Amino acid sequence: MLFLRDAHNRIIRDLRVSLTDRCNFRCFYCLPNGEPPLARKETILTFEEIEYVCDIFVSLGIEKIRLTGGEPMLRKDIEVLIGKLARLKSQISNPKLKDLALTTNGHTFPRRAENLKRAGLDRVTISLDSLRRERFKEITGVDALENVFDSIEAAKKYHLTPVKINCVLVRGRNDDEIVDFARFARENDVKMRFIEFMPLDSGHDWTRESIVSAREIREKINARFPLALKEKSRGAETAWRYEFADGAPGEIGIVAPVTEMFCGACSRIRLTADGQIRTCLFSTEEYNLRDCLRSGSNRAEIVEFIRSVVLKKEARHTINDEKFAPASRSMSFIGG
Ligand code: GTP
Ligand code: 5AD
Ligand code: SF4
Repeated sequence: MLFLRDAHNRIIRDLRVSLTDRCNFRCFYCLPNGEPPLARKETILTFEEIEYVCDIFVSLGIEKIRLTGGEPMLRKDIEVLIGKLARLKSQISNPKLKDLALTTNGHTFPRRAENLKRAGLDRVTISLDSLRRERFKEITGVDALENVFDSIEAAKKYHLTPVKINCVLVRGRNDDEIVDFARFARENDVKMRFIEFMPLDSGHDWTRESIVSAREIREKINARFPLALKEKSRGAETAWRYEFADGAPGEIGIVAPVTEMFCGACSRIRLTADGQIRTCLFSTEEYNLRDCLRSGSNRAEIVEFIRSVVLKKEARHTINDEKFAPASRSMSFIGG
C-alpha cells in the first residue's frame, strides 16, 4: 500500500471531516452573523458516503479521523456514523484507523456522551473561550457555560479522554483569562489548547493586532505556573505541549499557526460536509469528491482522484505574506 504523500514529501495521516456547516452558536471568531448554511440538503454527504470515503482514506494510511463542523452534534444520529467509522479501527485488513475524535461546542453533548462512547468514539475536544458566564454568552451568543462544564465532566465520566479544550484567544475579548484557564487545566485535569486567532471568521473582523501570540501566552502562564516543554519538536501536531513543572495534572497546548507556523509538518486533509476535499485550511480551491462519488466512479478511480488532489496540497498558508489570499470559505464551512 502506498501512503498518501504530497508534493512536499509530507505524508497525510489525519482526515478532518465536517459533518455540517450549521452551528447553534454564533462565536464571533467563527460565525458571528449566523450566515445561512451554504450547502443544500442533497449536497451533504450521507453517512454511507462518508463511511465509504473514510474506508478508502484509511486504506491509504489515514490514522486519525476527526469529526467537526459547524457543530457536528447537530447531525441527526451522529452515533450511527460513529459506529460505522469505529469499525475501521477493528477491521481485519491493514492499515486500520487508530483514533476517532470529535470537536464540539458542548451544547447537547452531556446527555449523549455515553452513547457516543458506546458507539466507538475515542475522545473529544470541547470549545471553551471564557470561564465567565456573561462573557461566554457575549462570545458565543448563547448562555451555555454550564452545559460546557457539564460536557467536560461527561467526557471524563465516559472516558472520552484525553479531554482537550479549545480556546481561541482574541485581544481585548478573553486574553485576561489565560492564567485562569491554566488553573482550570490543573484543577480539572484537562488539556488546554490556546489557539491564535486566524483569518477564517465569516465576519471578517480578524486583524493582526487581535492575535495573542504564542510567546505572550507562554510568558503569562510561566509567570504564574512554570511550564516544562514535553517534546522539543511538535512533530505533525499543531500544538507545543507543556506540563506543569510542579507536577500538577493537566496540560497546556499552544497552537500558533500565525506566529510559529507548523505547515512544514502538516499531515492534514479536510472533507467538507458537501463533499469537497480541502488540502489546507486556507485553500482557495476545493476538489469535488462528491461528484466523483456520485458519478459512479469505482474505488480505484476514487483512490486516483484522492491521490491527485493530495499532490496539490499547498506548502503553507500565506497569512504572514504581504499578499495574503483569504481562504475560499470560513471556518464553519471548513471544519476546525
Ligand atoms: P489532535 O491532535 O487530533 O487532538 O488535534 P489537534 O491537536 O490538531 O487539535 P484540534 O484538532 O482540536 O485543533 C485545534 C485547533 O487548531 C483547530 O480548531 C484549529 O483552530 C487549529 N488547527 C487544527 N489544524 C490546523 C491546521 O492544519 N492548520 C492550521 N492553521 N490550524 C489548525
Ligand atoms: N481562528 C482559530 N481557530 C478557530 N476556530 C474556529 N474559528 C477559528 C478562528 N477564526 C476553531 C476553534 C474551535 C474549532 C471548532 O475551530 O478552535 O474550537
Ligand atoms: Fe496544513 Fe494549511 Fe494548516 Fe498549514 S495552514 S498546517 S498547510 S492545513
